[in-house]
Amino acid sequence: MRKCGAIFFVVTAVITLQTIILVLNNLGTRFSNSLPREKPSKVHLLILSTWRAGSSLVGQIFNQNPDVFYLKEPAWHVWNTMPHNNAHVLHMAVRDLIRSVFKCDMSVLDVYMQNRSYVSNLFQWSSSRALCLPPACNTFSRKKIVTDYNCKKYCAKSPFSKVEQSCNAYSHIVLQEVRIFDLKVLYPLLKDPSLNLKILHLVRDPRAVAKSRIQTFRALAVDNGIVLNRNGTKINDTKFLALHEICQSHANMYKMATDDPPLFLNGRYMMVRYEDLVQDPLGKVQEIYKFANLEMTEKLSEWICNVTHGQGLPTRKEAFKITSRNALNVSQAWRTMLPFQIVTKIQDICKDAMNTFQYQFMKSETQQRDLSEDFVLPRTKH
Ligand SMILES: *[C@@H]1O[C@H](CO)[C@@H](O)[C@H](O)[C@H]1NC(C)=O
Ligand SMILES: *[C@@H]1O[C@H](CO)[C@@H](O)[C@H](O)[C@H]1NC(C)=O
Ligand SMILES: *[C@@H]1O[C@H](CO)[C@@H](O)[C@H](O)[C@H]1NC(C)=O
Ligand SMILES: *[C@@H]1O[C@H](CO)[C@@H](O)[C@H](O)[C@H]1NC(C)=O
Ligand SMILES: *[C@@H]1O[C@H](CO)[C@@H](O)[C@H](O)[C@H]1NC(C)=O
Repeated sequence: MRKCGAIFFVVTAVITLQTIILVLNNLGTRFSNSLPREKPSKVHLLILSTWRAGSSLVGQIFNQNPDVFYLKEPAWHVWNTMPHNNAHVLHMAVRDLIRSVFKCDMSVLDVYMQNRSYVSNLFQWSSSRALCLPPACNTFSRKKIVTDYNCKKYCAKSPFSKVEQSCNAYSHIVLQEVRIFDLKVLYPLLKDPSLNLKILHLVRDPRAVAKSRIQTFRALAVDNGIVLNRNGTKINDTKFLALHEICQSHANMYKMATDDPPLFLNGRYMMVRYEDLVQDPLGKVQEIYKFANLEMTEKLSEWICNVTHGQGLPTRKEAFKITSRNALNVSQAWRTMLPFQIVTKIQDICKDAMNTFQYQFMKSETQQRDLSEDFVLPRTKH
């Protein structure tokens, strides 16, 4: 693992290398200009994940980048409007919404929002840095780090039209979604010549996801009902039925993307395990940024070190609420907190996902509690 103190040299070296690669890439594109369907210069990146799998941290890793317009879960509006349907029926509406939002056309939200007067009518709006800065909100200058508290205080009443204006001002549009259960749903977007879509598939050890879901049963109840097709009823996922669906769909999406994938997925899909990210945050973020055509800055690497090593901003009015605890410790908390019989239950219902993403099974409580043993196997397949 790379230590945070010694990173800046490494970062500089990598940035230099990236610049060289970028120049080479540009030369490459110039020669391939004769290709019929040139993708647009903007990058549209979808963080494909599930509830409690570390997507807030990964979202913020993009959100903090000055080239990125980031929105968290815009498809929440679809699910929230039609809770009597199931995830598969809602897929097409979710996909259309994602397509429009990537193109900065926010009119697609009309039918899902009763009130479309202010920026703050958008779900989780204040977790988007771009919506707290010009042109969305002119209280602060573009260079400033705006806290969540100040953003809510000064930017909530920005007119809704500013969302589009802001979106258009950035080179990278990044959306985070947990409401997609089938990779095929995204194929038309990958083939759409007006989009330059990349998919970052974020997965996490199902046992860690389970621990976190247990702590948030109530908050997930409506979504569980939709995942399990229960006609608008709320479900406490005590039997992990929703988690079973989630595990299976993510294993299947990965298999679709990696076993004999269609040509249009080439270079457009990357899977990341949350555990690998917290094990080596800077190294992994470099890889992710390279995939997304983003550049790392010193300030960003310092921020990543801060939030993954428990040194968040010192005030309680923290910039962008992501809990800045020791990420590695947090990712291991289930080892000490989850009863072993639940561990075996999750291993059973998420067996395929465990095998697919290479999380090792535990045979005893002793194994579970012994933190010196690592149960995240090295990746053997891309
Ligand atoms: C819509 O906005 C108006 C004016 O801000 C407010 O009075 C009303 O309560 C809002 N309605 C909903 C459903 O949020
Ligand atoms: C779904 O719920 C609605 C009202 O909540 C009810 O009218 C409808 O009959 C239910 N549909 C089914 C298939 O149970
Ligand atoms: C779900 O669990 C919460 C406590 O975690 C409880 O208050 C609530 O009544 C439960 N709801 C259902 C539908 O079982
Ligand atoms: C990182 O944490 C230190 C110590 O709390 C703080 O002074 C610094 O401003 C932080 N840097 C960033 C970029 O968040
Ligand atoms: C992380 O866990 C180790 C061992 O469990 C403990 O010694 C250390 O204090 C923890 N660090 C933080 C920041 O919680």
